[in-house]
Amino acid sequence: MGSIANIGADQWLAAASYRRTVYQLKGTSSASDERVREIIEKVLSFAPSSYNTQPVRITLVTGPKHKQLWDSIITAAQPVLKSISEDVWNAMSPRFEGFKGAYGSVVFWESQNTIKESGETHKSAAHMFPEFSDHANGMHQILVWTALELEGLGANLQHLNAIPPVEAAIKKFLAVPDDYKLKAHLNYGDEVAEHPEQPQKLSFSETLKVVS
Ligand SMILES: Cc1cc2nc3c(=O)[nH]c(=O)nc-3n(C[C@H](O)[C@H](O)[C@H](O)COP(=O)(O)O)c2cc1C
Repeated sequence: MGSIANIGADQWLAAASYRRTVYQLKGTSSASDERVREIIEKVLSFAPSSYNTQPVRITLVTGPKHKQLWDSIITAAQPVLKSISEDVWNAMSPRFEGFKGAYGSVVFWESQNTIKESGETHKSAAHMFPEFSDHANGMHQILVWTALELEGLGANLQHLNAIPPVEAAIKKFLAVPDDYKLKAHLNYGDEVAEHPEQPQKLSFSETLKVVS
């Protein structure tokens, strides 16, 4: 049995392993905006970052604003993807419409000002802070993602920063400070179908070595 949380590692791992990539989402959320906000606040209150420098920023977008956000993403992405080929656009467009059909977005940012300041405060590790920031962001992402699914929702993680004009459109729509850099975008909502099965993983002989 664990200490203060009164759960053991197996229970925590069982909860963590429940998280899946869920693409089929409804435009509803059985968890209230207030509850999702509370979950995000809890994660922000304890998740780690290097030297506790806290470079992670989060925007919660719900209901009609989520749809409008996706409209601005689609508008910005369309010319870029079509310029690659009609096929690329035709493949991506239904995916984007699916994401728009969800209920909400949790958008994860990096505060570049914080990274700069961290490098000045901790000079010997200055070159590491961009990478540390990525690690910290991923830790926040997995915690929020897992908690939302344990709350009964489905969610999928997207990276619209792959298309630079889209990142600019998201920044403009959400009116975040200039120094924010987009890191990830978690779409969430009630699940349409059964919670997905866990995908197959490599064998431990390939991924783990114990030296003792
Ligand atoms: C760092 C990272 C980036 C990912 N980027 C995307 C993405 O851009 N779009 C997407 O649909 N899924 C993305 N995923 C989800 C993975 O495809 C998914 O986690 C993986 O296939 C395992 O499935 P599971 O999430 O159900 O365990 C990402 C996952 C991670 C950890």
